[in-house]
Amino acid sequence: MGVVALGGVAAAHGTGAHGGMEHDPQMRKLHAMMPMFSMASAELETALEKGDAAAADKESGKILAAIPDLKVSRPHRNVKQKKGFVKLAKQLEDRATEVRGLSQKGDFAAARPAFRKLEATCGECHDRYR
Ligand code: HEC
Repeated sequence: MGVVALGGVAAAHGTGAHGGMEHDPQMRKLHAMMPMFSMASAELETALEKGDAAAADKESGKILAAIPDLKVSRPHRNVKQKKGFVKLAKQLEDRATEVRGLSQKGDFAAARPAFRKLEATCGECHDRYR
């Protein structure tokens, strides 16, 4: 019973003092899309290692499909520096496009280092906005 009571307190607290973050739809959207980025980039890396053009196309396509949502989502930190955030989303788009183009051509020797740059963009945005 004590657990139920505590849960009630936690819920009340959540909708009260911290009402902003969890209930901001643009922030929720960002949070919901990140695990997909994580999965897709891991699958993409494997595809590039194997030289699997079809899988590389599919996974880079997943990242690219989410970019419009990423651009309009809201980060946790430095929320006011929205320009830089959109710029990094665009950079992710450019790098995913590059990886996709190179793997479509079967140029995996170039696609692999291009993927490293894509990953660096994930890290750059996290350093500043996560
Ligand atoms: C334009 C900015 C930006 C880019 C680019 C970006 N992220 Fe994120 N990411 C964030 C922010 C902000 C958070 C924290 C927000 C959240 O999870 O609610 C985050 C959180 C995450 C998390 C943690 C999710 C969780 O449940 O806490 C993972 C995993 C992640 N990102 C993976 C990636 C990968 C992989 C890439 C690159 C393919 C990437 N992100 C690119 C901004 C970005």
